[in-house]
Amino acid sequence: MDSARPHERPTAFDRILTPVHRWIWSDTDRRVQKLLRFGETETDGGRDILRAAEITSDPLLRRLYLEHAIDEFRHGVLFRHRAAALLKVSPSCSNPGFQGGWLSPGGHGLDDLQVDGESDSDMLAFLHLSEKAAASRFTVYRDVMQHDAPTRAVFEEILHDETFHMNYTLTQLVRVEPKQHRRHLWRARLSRLWKTYLRLATGLAGILGSMLMTIQYFVLLPPFAWLAKRAARREHSGWTIVSPGASES
Ligand SMILES: [Fe+2]
Ligand SMILES: [Fe+2]
Repeated sequence: MDSARPHERPTAFDRILTPVHRWIWSDTDRRVQKLLRFGETETDGGRDILRAAEITSDPLLRRLYLEHAIDEFRHGVLFRHRAAALLKVSPSCSNPGFQGGWLSPGGHGLDDLQVDGESDSDMLAFLHLSEKAAASRFTVYRDVMQHDAPTRAVFEEILHDETFHMNYTLTQLVRVEPKQHRRHLWRARLSRLWKTYLRLATGLAGILGSMLMTIQYFVLLPPFAWLAKRAARREHSGWTIVSPGASES
């Protein structure tokens, strides 16, 4: 069973994108921006899991969710501290340009979490897949961070927690839904797949939109500019004498 696995290996998709991740993380300014955004995602996720602890009626889950939320808040602090340390060394964080946010999102996808109205089993299935995705991505991020040992150490430390989150959520899902846990996992998987599609489609739409606007700027605008200049050249300068009858309405 999945829960027996103590560590998560990166998915094939994340492994294929390793060179892209290496390039994205190689730039210090981009690294700072991404760490700050990751910090926000972790803190927001912690807040949602805290809410899950409030509304669950299962005492064991409440305790585990509380520990989980504390971990996520700590991750947020770790990411922000690392970003601040990088900013001190390289304060020129003005325009990091392309960040590939839709290619290397902030780990979990916990930002998609909707706590109220979710059953314990749906919540656990969602959390398990989110933590699994986080463990997979953070493994890749850690591995491409050869040039930045402190950031690599941050990912290493967080990865340890994410692996624990991934395992406990599956163990608890099996406890809460011994017979139906696979169905819950598949439903959560399909939901995540749809959200991933939307994220990729939004990213692609942004790139295509920029390309179309650039093409329009260089192809459509010059003829209009030329026509406007030609019309301006034909205009007489100064006052123009109007014939007596022409001014009558
Ligand atoms: Fe986390
Ligand atoms: Fe986590």
